[in-house]
Amino acid sequence: MRSKKVTKAVFPVAGLGTRFLPATKSIPKEIMTLVDRPLIQYAIDEARAAGIKEFIFVTSRGKSALEDYFDTAPELESELRRKNKTELLEVLKATNMDSGAIAYLRQNRPMGLGHAVWCARRLIGDEPFAVLLPDDVIAAEKPCLAQMVEAYEETGGCMVATMEVPPAKASAYGVLDIDEDMGSVVKARGMVEKPKAEEAPSNLAVIGRYILSPKVMTNLNRMKQGAGGEIQLTDAIADEVEGEGVYGFRFRGMRYDCGSKAGFLQATVAFGLSRPDLRDEFSAYLDEMVAQSRAAE
Ligand code: UTP
Repeated sequence: MRSKKVTKAVFPVAGLGTRFLPATKSIPKEIMTLVDRPLIQYAIDEARAAGIKEFIFVTSRGKSALEDYFDTAPELESELRRKNKTELLEVLKATNMDSGAIAYLRQNRPMGLGHAVWCARRLIGDEPFAVLLPDDVIAAEKPCLAQMVEAYEETGGCMVATMEVPPAKASAYGVLDIDEDMGSVVKARGMVEKPKAEEAPSNLAVIGRYILSPKVMTNLNRMKQGAGGEIQLTDAIADEVEGEGVYGFRFRGMRYDCGSKAGFLQATVAFGLSRPDLRDEFSAYLDEMVAQSRAAE
């Protein structure tokens, strides 16, 4: 099957980020830094690597730092130029977006992820689109969304990134009911948002990367309230099981839940250790910490 090319991506960033209060009282969660880049930069880089050309942010009050982040910074740039800091100028280049490539929409109340995605319906029109949740950061040789685009070209329909989780953790995710397991791709016969451990239909949990048919926007038009009284994206995707088909994709890579404190700390360690400029000093420090805590036991 040859599917339409995926060139648009929605970044829902209108959530309150309560798990990171008080930090998120004044800093958007997506601006919090993993080593030296804000979470949103990792998501943008992943989207670019997958061929995305139009970036649609669904924001809310208090998120203006996000909009500024993607602007040029003429004073800073001319100062770096004057000081011949070419490497830093290159680093800044990755934060700039071509005029017209980025759009900001407001979700005026946090009514759920499905509602946030629906806010982008007019900009999406009749095309398939990607959704990336920036608080899911994925370390992978080939970026996760690029892996998915490749698989999606064969399946069409809707595709969600999945990973295996123990039953006790299923209640924190959307979970797939598996129809046919083809290895890296799984055909779903249903999807349940935040099931109880004993009711989870499988151990395949959905994480924050999606390639969706525009039909999902039509399904969201119904504004059906789901788990937690929110408009759930999972429910609107599940409606396509009987329609264009829903596929889970087992990506190759490691996902960090940077929406939680423990996940953010784990990602900081992993990304710190993967950086050639930090690895030696940082790993020596971690070894020392471990040795000290063993000695204290
Ligand atoms: P989360 O469930 O992590 O919620 O949303 P949150 O508000 O960001 O954080 P906590 O749980 O209060 O700490 C998952 C993604 O969906 C977006 C969030 O911005 C995040 O990227 N979202 C959620 C919206 O854009 N709008 C909503 O109404 C809800």
